[in-house]
Amino acid sequence: MSIHRLVSNMKIGICSDHAGFAYKSRLIGYLESKGYEVKDFGTHSEESMDYPDVAHPLAEAVEKGETDLGIAMCGTGNGMAMTLNKHQGIRAGLAWTEEIGRLVRQHNNANILVMPARFIPYEDAEKITGTWLETEFEGGRHQRRIDKIPVR
Ligand code: RB5
Repeated sequence: MSIHRLVSNMKIGICSDHAGFAYKSRLIGYLESKGYEVKDFGTHSEESMDYPDVAHPLAEAVEKGETDLGIAMCGTGNGMAMTLNKHQGIRAGLAWTEEIGRLVRQHNNANILVMPARFIPYEDAEKITGTWLETEFEGGRHQRRIDKIPVR
């Protein structure tokens, strides 16, 4: 199936804390301009808040298939990644370069992309997101490896 067919009906959940709020707002515009349907899980301002309050709802939506994929941002990306990866059905991958954005899909099939908003320019966040969305999972030995990630 071509990426263009996938994009037309793909729903993406997105969340950030206050540190990622400005990037989240811009990234929603970018995603919508590319034809993705976006569900915003907050936060909705730059007022200080606790990232788990938005990360858990996003993770649950992705696990239930209410959104196909997710994107999360906080200052370093670590708080979001730590929280999201508590969910057994989530593979949240932190990416800060376009190459890592490609590999986190190709090798790890990350279903949530996490980015460190305070440590990358906005333009890089857009490039990383675009590359992650357009890359396909390689499967094979990588499927075997990701099958071993969940704690049973
Ligand atoms: C907020 O100051 C900061 O701690 C948060 O955005 C994030 O970096 C945590 O991991």
